[in-house]
Amino acid sequence: MWQRFTERSRRAVFFAQEEAGRLGTNYVHTEHLLLGVIREHDTLASRILDRLGVSPDRVRAEIEKKVELADGRLGADMQLTPRAKRVVDLAFDEARLLRNDYIGTEHLLMGLVREREGLAGRVLTTFGVGIEQLRAHVQALQDNDTSPSRSAAAGESRPDDQRAAEVVRRLNEDSNWNGRSLVSLADVSIDQIRSVLDAARLFKALDHNRTPGVTWNYPRTLAMIFEKPSLRTRVSFEAAMAHLGGHAIHLGPNDIGMGSRESASDVALALSRWVDVISARVFKHETVVELAAHATVPVINALSDREHPVQAFADLLTLEERKGPLGKGVKIAYIGDGNNVLHALLLACAKLGVHLSAACPEGYLPDQNYIDLASESARLTGSRIDIGTDPPVAAADADCVYTDVWTSMGQEDEQVARLAVFAPYQVNSVLMARANPDAIVLHCLPAHCGEENSEEVYERHRDGIMDQA
Ligand code: NVA
Repeated sequence: MWQRFTERSRRAVFFAQEEAGRLGTNYVHTEHLLLGVIREHDTLASRILDRLGVSPDRVRAEIEKKVELADGRLGADMQLTPRAKRVVDLAFDEARLLRNDYIGTEHLLMGLVREREGLAGRVLTTFGVGIEQLRAHVQALQDNDTSPSRSAAAGESRPDDQRAAEVVRRLNEDSNWNGRSLVSLADVSIDQIRSVLDAARLFKALDHNRTPGVTWNYPRTLAMIFEKPSLRTRVSFEAAMAHLGGHAIHLGPNDIGMGSRESASDVALALSRWVDVISARVFKHETVVELAAHATVPVINALSDREHPVQAFADLLTLEERKGPLGKGVKIAYIGDGNNVLHALLLACAKLGVHLSAACPEGYLPDQNYIDLASESARLTGSRIDIGTDPPVAAADADCVYTDVWTSMGQEDEQVARLAVFAPYQVNSVLMARANPDAIVLHCLPAHCGEENSEEVYERHRDGIMDQA
């Protein structure tokens, strides 16, 4: 019976057993299955519940209020109660109706709703979750072969080997990025952005310790130039290369002496002889432009004083995971410094049709060139780009409130002056009250609690911010 279960749905059943044990029984009831299904973020089931406004915490609280604690005598084997067995049968039935050859968390959720009589079914009915509604959401995620949601559904639902093979096939066939550099999002097409988000989503759903047994058409060697410090970019790039079976070489500020010991153009040319791709975190944007102009391999901007494109990808992926497909009226409010992070976000949001309202102090507004470029894309995609100085105005009805440090790397001399100017630009609970009640908070990190965000807001949203990282 379990062979057709995906890794995620197997885990849900395993968690259900744990929940049963915790609640003092060795019979897995429907409510334990539901607790197992909601335990992991980012499964199809939890994403659908999220869209329906049903939070795991509320479901758990409701079950715990209603469940009768068993006597605590545990036997050797866990068994499904007849109702829980029926849930599994119904999950198979829903998979059959959808012509899915696997059982994912979404099918289990549909089985739980259809069973109705058990505590799980009653709780889900209390929250207004109906089977037709669920089917519509699952169908919508699976229907459109080319939509990112389809790949999300596939990424989550298929058994591991199939998923890995699909990721490899898609990426090997994806020519959006072949040999191209990523210096500025201004030069990047919507398809290229989509292809990165799709690939990232698929990778996230994979178990990296399994060997797919297929060849990745991927660069094997990455040279990472860092003129400035980095935790997230360095580790995520290096880990990613390891997962792809490649290797990353870290070149810190004292390793090369770019611009002093040797020119950026020579660095680019020499590195191109040894490695397949170069990434660079630099003080001056012009340096990464020069590297890309001379390198014969692709160059990735890993942050410059003007733009942080790879951060924008992580931001959009997180937003999409939490708020569903982008470009359908999703609004980000950016509060704080009109810096590299905002520049990249402006370009990416405008291209994807996401609304962005920024509030930055006078004198710290984003560069007019970026506003113009974003406004131009926004005219085509229907995104609304508003740049102002008033945080409550920007935060109104936002689905996501975004902030960044007030003093970026390289601006340390200005720190004292900036603290005073930016004080009214803190993301705190008063400002969050202006946003939608279920708004998320994003931060590219490192965070300075008490400055750009209050301790309370940061703590409340830390989990999502770590997903973003
Ligand atoms: N604006 C920040 C981003 C850090 C990831 C900086 O440039 O320091």
